[in-house]
Amino acid sequence: MRWRFAFCFRDRVALQINFAVCAVVAWVSLCATLKIIEKMTMLQVKNINVCYGDVQILWDISFAVNKGEIVALVGTNGAGKSTTLKTISGLLSPRGGEILFEDIVLHKMKPFKLIELGIVHVPEGRRLFVEMSVEENLDMGSLKGKARTERQKRKEQIFDLFPRLKERRFQLAGTLSGGEQQMLAVGRGLMSKPRFMMFDEPSLGLAPILVKEIFNVIRKIRDEGTTVLIVEQNVNQTLAIADKAYVLERGKIILQGTGEELLCNAHVKKAYLGV
Ligand SMILES: Nc1ncnc2c1ncn2[C@@H]1O[C@H](COP(=O)(O)OP(=O)(O)O)[C@@H](O)[C@H]1O
Ligand SMILES: [Mg+2]
Repeated sequence: MRWRFAFCFRDRVALQINFAVCAVVAWVSLCATLKIIEKMTMLQVKNINVCYGDVQILWDISFAVNKGEIVALVGTNGAGKSTTLKTISGLLSPRGGEILFEDIVLHKMKPFKLIELGIVHVPEGRRLFVEMSVEENLDMGSLKGKARTERQKRKEQIFDLFPRLKERRFQLAGTLSGGEQQMLAVGRGLMSKPRFMMFDEPSLGLAPILVKEIFNVIRKIRDEGTTVLIVEQNVNQTLAIADKAYVLERGKIILQGTGEELLCNAHVKKAYLGV
């Protein structure tokens, strides 16, 4: 009798220890998984509201960009795409919400600091130095630190990506065609070897063949390890290259999904693809 009691007691203790060990293992795995997920997230935009004066343009915008992804924000003219990128870049301040880049608070940072974090913004309209040559414009993208010491090597890599820029390396930027100017704007952004690149309507005003080329280059940039956030009106081709996408209408995100999912979405088809 005493022996049986001792056995049951031992069993119960063993069972409780087993439970405790399992609980600890489960907790540690959960924490490790959460840590991995957190590490994968590069940019987090959380509930931002942005105004020009008294006019609110962005309403409670939230989205995330994971490392190694192309994330797209698509919408018509005036939807708030450029405003979103300008807010991430620190050119505009959100009235509420927060923006984190690998857990660093971005929305309180000065725009020129972003380059040190490896963030590059290729703005709408290219903003080139039109009175400077192609090569001088590229040099302007590598003014500091490692980018400066590796300038020549970087330039050769960009000329490999855009052979047309190599042919025109001594030509003034202002005399380039629209497509060549867009290539130069992308090339200048790449000169600092960014880890995170934002593109504002890179296909705007380009002939269809060049649009295809620019999207191929953006895909290549992602494949070579740079994370991409792109905003575009060209919904069809942008969704085709996007790992994840958000639809922006009148300053609000109304849909999200993978590029493929959104291409099949009834609202996207009707409103943006004309099918
Ligand atoms: N500097 C500004 N001052 C006042 N309103 C602006 C300014 N810039 C943009 N807007 C307005 O904000 C809205 C969103 O603009 P924008 O972000 O440029 O749209 P998108 O890039 O999607 O075309 C538009 O209605 C536009 O008129
Ligand atoms: Mg815009």
